[in-house]
Amino acid sequence: MRAAIYPGSFDPVTYGHLDIIRRAADIFDELTVSVLNNKIKTPLFSVEERVKMLEEATKDLPNVRVDSFSGLLIDYARKHDVHVAIRGLRAITDFEYELQIAQTNRKFSGGELDTMFLTTSLEYAYLSSSTVKEIASFNGDISQCVPEFVARSIYEKYGYGR
Ligand code: PNS
Repeated sequence: MRAAIYPGSFDPVTYGHLDIIRRAADIFDELTVSVLNNKIKTPLFSVEERVKMLEEATKDLPNVRVDSFSGLLIDYARKHDVHVAIRGLRAITDFEYELQIAQTNRKFSGGELDTMFLTTSLEYAYLSSSTVKEIASFNGDISQCVPEFVARSIYEKYGYGR
């Protein structure tokens, strides 16, 4: 069985992430979308909230499950016996960072963890969770960026009732 992990912060999930999830779920038999519990970053949503939103947004995809992890991705992947990590590439600016992480993960896993990149669909190439949060923090329209239930949760965090 071909399995992959799509790791990320997903703070919160956007249509860009969902595009990658759908396409990776078509390629692999089983896809685990895993939210990083990163103690260094201060996220808008808790890990539990991010997992819940991802579960809701992917409920129509039977071969996708949602999980969370702390620590190194290579340790998490080894524990679950998964050998492919999925990452989305939006632009050349993503590439340098992603290449370094992918090479580090391959090296430090002894070749056990490879990274497969999917290029984000052009209509979502501009999209990032940070941009969405910034627009929403000024009560701007984010309906093109995230599912409606996610948008409602973001506005709630910033004190806007919609
Ligand atoms: O959505 P993001 O924040 O761009 O995702 C980054 C992520 C979660 C893929 C990356 O930070 C990660 O895998 N972190 C876990 C720690 C780790 O294994 N780092 C790689 C070696 S430096």
